[in-house]
Order: sequence, then C-alpha cells, then structure tokens
Amino acid sequence: MASMSLEKNRIKFLLLEGVHPSAIATLNSAGYNEIEALSGSLDEDSLIEKLKGVHFVGVRSRTQLTERVIASADKLIAIGCFCIGTNQVDLPAARRHGIPVFNAPYSNTRSVAELVLAEAIMLARGVPEKSMKAHRGEWQKSAAKSWEVRGKTLGVVGYGSIGSQLSVLAESLGMKVKFHDVVTKLPLGNAEQADSLEELLRESDIVTLHVPETAATQDMFGAAQFSQMKSGAIFINAARGTVVVIDDLVAALKSQHLGGAAIDVFPVEPRSNSETFESPLRGIDNVILTPHVGGSTQEAQENIGIEVALKFAKYSDNGTTTSAVNFPEVALPEHHNSHRILHVHKNVPGVLAAITDVLSSNGVNITGQYLQTAEDIGYVVVDVEHGQGSKALDKLSSIEHTVRCRVLF
Ligand code: NAI
Repeated sequence: MASMSLEKNRIKFLLLEGVHPSAIATLNSAGYNEIEALSGSLDEDSLIEKLKGVHFVGVRSRTQLTERVIASADKLIAIGCFCIGTNQVDLPAARRHGIPVFNAPYSNTRSVAELVLAEAIMLARGVPEKSMKAHRGEWQKSAAKSWEVRGKTLGVVGYGSIGSQLSVLAESLGMKVKFHDVVTKLPLGNAEQADSLEELLRESDIVTLHVPETAATQDMFGAAQFSQMKSGAIFINAARGTVVVIDDLVAALKSQHLGGAAIDVFPVEPRSNSETFESPLRGIDNVILTPHVGGSTQEAQENIGIEVALKFAKYSDNGTTTSAVNFPEVALPEHHNSHRILHVHKNVPGVLAAITDVLSSNGVNITGQYLQTAEDIGYVVVDVEHGQGSKALDKLSSIEHTVRCRVLF
C-alpha cells in the first residue's frame, strides 16, 4: 500500500466507547478535526463498515479488533487503545499489516500510588476492622495496634513507575522506603534498594507489590514470603492477582501473623459488574478489598485521552512509533526541510539494501535514515531532500516484501 501524506483535514479519526473528550481536544490542538466519536462499541460487521476510509481508530477494552477487521480496513494506519490492556487487538495481525498499536500504560500511575498510600494509612490505624465492627454495631474505641505511618518502613517490591512514585509520596509523609527490584535502580529521595527480597520483607512494616505479571512473578508471594514478614506487618497488592497465593495470604491473616491487607487485584476477577466476586478473602475484617480500581480515576481517564491522542498525532505528523506495543519503535525528529518516507516491510534480508539501491539509482539524496525491526516487521524511515519524496514513493512501494509505504511532506 503506497500513500502520500494527506492534508490534516482529510485524515479521519474514529473514537469508540466514549473515549475521554481530552483525546478530541488534544487532536484538535494538533490540527486534526475530522473526528467521529461514538459512545458505544461496534460488533465486527458494523466495525468493518464504519472503518472504511478511517485512518486512525481509538477503542477501549470492549471493541474487538480482529484480523478480519484489520485486514478489511483499507485506510487504517494506526490503532489506539485508550486504556492499559491491548488484548482486544490482534497485535500480530496489526503488525503484519504495518499498523502500530498504541496504549497508555502510565496514565494511571499516580492514581495507584495514591490509593496504596491511603490504604497503608488506613490499615496502620486498623480502620477497616473498626469500620466493619461499627457497621455491625460494635464500638472498638482503642489505640491498641493503631500506628502512625511516620517513621515506619515501606517495602516496595518493583520500583518502576508506580513503585517509585509511591516512594516519593511515602517519604513526604516521613516514611522510610526500601525497595526490591530485579534491576538496579536509581533511588529517588532517600529510598534504599534492599540487597534481597528477604531483607526487604524482614525490615518493612508495610510491603506493597508493584511488579508486572510475568512467569517470574507468578506466585511470587506465598507462605514462605509471608512468614519472612514482620509480625503485624501490612501487605498490599495492587499489581496483578497472579503474583500472590491467596490461600497462603488468608492463612497468614487468620493466624494474625499479618496485621492487615489491601488487595485490588485477584487471580480470577469477575468479567463484568453483574457477576459475583468470589474470594476466600471475603469477610475478613482487616482486609480492604477493591474491585481492580487502583488506576480508575477521572484524572487517569483524562490522561489516557491525552497520551494516546498525542501518540496518534506524532505518528501522523512525523512517523514516530515510540511505545507502540506491537511495532518497531522509532523516535524521530521533526523533518522541516525534507520529505520523509516511512517504509514498512517484512523483516527479511536485503530490503534495506534494496531501498538504498532504489534511492541512489534514482539520484535521491538521503539526509537521514532510521531503522528498527520487531519480530517479522522492519520499519525504515528515510529523510530525503525536499521535493524528492513523491519520486521515490512508487519505486519504494514496488520493492519486494513491502507491506506499506507512506511519504510525509
Ligand atoms: P513498571 O514496568 O513501570 O514497573 C515494574 C517494575 O517491576 C520494574 O522496575 C521491573 O524491573 C520490576 N520487576 C519486574 N520483575 C520483577 C521481579 N520478578 N522482582 C522484582 N521486581 C521486578 O510497571 P508499573 O506501571 O509500575 O506497574 C506495576 C504493576 O501495577 C503492573 O503489574 C501493572 O499491571 C499494575 N497496575 C495495576 C493497576 C490497578 O488498577 N491496580 C493500574 C496500573 C498498573
């Protein structure tokens, strides 16, 4: 597929599932105004029909972008998931068609960090248990086992975006922060990287998980880890449900080895709000249970709208694919005095040489070149002297193994 860049007012965006208005505002300020926004999602056939002539589609979690949908979308150049997860999109199929998929993995970092900090304070004061009792008419007025968090040690397992943000907030409350991470990380503030997970568990008054879901983190917290924690310590998991062996957590709570817990994510979660939530943690007074809402705030929704819309605008304006989840990532500078050719091809030997050959044998002067590959796809971006882009487009599109080729003026 070969295409010349269009005027901005001819580039069509379709946003489904009530994406936050911040997305439209962001696209408008980047000069894009051909935007249709629908409140619901569409089934496969309606989506195929609706995507005709659309260049960018934005979805949340309900719209399924299957191989059939992607293959039939004649003009589609990028997909945006206005959320964190991307499993509603057939990512390999999108890649094979030369279509990058963007999402917003870090828009809700602050929301999670705030919730965890609030839970740490509530649990340190025994509030969940006192509140449950008060609901049942019991009056537990006592300072026993009720602590300030000031001066206490917060153990952060996984010092990434959320863990490090939380670390800064916790220090501002006067907490000490220890963290454990598989990677050596630059500590923020006065936080210290523990030599081992065992050391962190031994020394922390509150342990909170912020690791991703991987084979290595599956069941990472079970009986052995809980027994290494201080007696009366607090445990928080707002990462992923598969990281914790829930029955072992229940045992550590029922034996009163742990002082309390806050759990936002579960190994099995209801698929919709109409399903019943089942968990052996239900009914334990000193446990805060929340329905995977760590990152669910209005601010996060607004940030997601801005983040994905900016990625759309950057890709449209200059070909940048940074943070695409299925596609070679290239961060590109502006290209004011040159034409930019975006060439997506199958990642087989010889294509780059063929591109260079075509350009040099046609007297096209290259002013910049960027290359990145991801699995079965290669992405070459070539800046050529102003005026030479259209000359090169047809020739480059006919190179064997080309998936798509686009010129930006
Ligand atoms: P991130 O990728 O920025 O940080 C993860 C950190 O964990 C990295 O520093 C990484 O090196 C470290 N890590 C990876 N494997 C590890 C291991 N085996 N042991 C120790 N450290 C390890 O991710 P981010 O954005 O901070 O998210 C963390 C978790 O929070 C993820 O599981 C994510 O799915 C979850 N999350 C939950 C939300 C909710 O609503 N409850 C919302 C947003 C994220």
